[in-house]
Amino acid sequence: MSVVPKLVHTFSETPSSEAVAPNDLDAYWLPFTANRQFKRAPRLLQAAEGMYYRTTDGRRLLDGSAGLWAVNAGHCRRQIVEAVQRQVAELDYATAFQMSHPKTFLLASRLRELLPGDMDHVFFTNSGSESVDTALKIALAYHQARGDTERTILVGRQRGYHGVNFGGLSVGGIAANQRQFPNLLTAVDHLPDTHLPDRNAFSRGQPEHGAERADALLEIIGRHGAERIAAVIVEPVAGSTGVLVPPIGYLERLRAHCDDHGILLIFDEVICGFGRLGAAFAADRFGIQPDLMTIAKGLTNATVPMGAVGVRKPIHDALMTGPESIIELFHGYTYSGHPLACAAALATLDLYRDEEIFEGAAAKAPLFEEAAHTLDSLEHVVDVRNLGFMVGVELQSREGAPGERAREVFMRCYEAGVLVRYTQDTIAVSPPLIISGAEIELLFATLRSAIEATD
Ligand SMILES: Cc1ncc(COP(=O)(O)O)c(C=O)c1O
Repeated sequence: MSVVPKLVHTFSETPSSEAVAPNDLDAYWLPFTANRQFKRAPRLLQAAEGMYYRTTDGRRLLDGSAGLWAVNAGHCRRQIVEAVQRQVAELDYATAFQMSHPKTFLLASRLRELLPGDMDHVFFTNSGSESVDTALKIALAYHQARGDTERTILVGRQRGYHGVNFGGLSVGGIAANQRQFPNLLTAVDHLPDTHLPDRNAFSRGQPEHGAERADALLEIIGRHGAERIAAVIVEPVAGSTGVLVPPIGYLERLRAHCDDHGILLIFDEVICGFGRLGAAFAADRFGIQPDLMTIAKGLTNATVPMGAVGVRKPIHDALMTGPESIIELFHGYTYSGHPLACAAALATLDLYRDEEIFEGAAAKAPLFEEAAHTLDSLEHVVDVRNLGFMVGVELQSREGAPGERAREVFMRCYEAGVLVRYTQDTIAVSPPLIISGAEIELLFATLRSAIEATD
């Protein structure tokens, strides 16, 4: 059995405890959760600071999942908390249609500096799901504006996750998420996923094999005709399905096929963005310019919900035509560019810059990779894959009980004071980027012990 190192973290103050009586558990319907099972033994978070959560029963948890791949700068960062506090006292809400407030413009300009190439316009949303549906709608509207009215088909990828709204769900490729909702978009097709376990298991970084999987787009073009395809959307690294890293050359080929056929390429960077791969965006990490980019999560360090779509200049400009009195895009949200979200995002971007958090992630990534691959030889581990600060540890599924082994490992980690995530039988590790070397060691040592203890 491996030895788990001890780390001591004390919360700077003790917030008041809010007990939840068993009867109070009934009303709330938790998202993406087995509600009845959860309510039998609820896991409730009370406070957070830096790398740690504290539960309502006073236990300390090392956050190995950055909340939901989102808290990249660590929890309850003072600069962000204070910026939101100041903002709520000054301007709680600003009407979003036909009106705005200065921080929306300030934030869009800051993002423009960070976004790749000529991606110099920003549309604000409130979540990753809304960003995806917004990007798909902008892609459709772009082709319509140019008179390319037959371009209506949207192409996603099997095992892709693009949130839960109807557009994102339709282009997404996770069957369990679609099964209960038999009325999705129909002008949709899917690329195959890039998972080739026979050839790529235990790859460090980008796997060697599978670039040709991008050529499936040519088959889709053959089926429908290039002139009918509006856009392709992919996660550069697929996160929620269990961390699938793109094979070397795959994204380049996808970009080339899109260019050759007038198809827009959308990168869904909701997870990959803001340093998770050791660069501002996956687009930078891979050196590929998408036409549209969806972001959320790390944009505000998850403090206040916010998403956005980055749009390249030619796409934006194609829609800025006709009489100036006409609305160019009939789309938007009551909370687009909410003042609290803008204040949180601006403070978050300052923190990323001042503490060089993306650079720090790039510097620590080899250590993270090394620690992850110490699990390669464990019984039941069939793959360990990684890039930047994303790791997927895939376990052999139990006969007739998919997901059960990973759930047990998740619970053992939780009992041992470490929070990870699991989907099916893959454990995903994606901590805040401020994690120390000692905490990386603790995280993987705990995971190792949990896997070793699970039949
Ligand atoms: C790639 C990707 N797109 C979209 C979403 C949806 O984001 P949200 O849950 O904020 O709607 C997620 C969430 O994990 C995601 O990983």
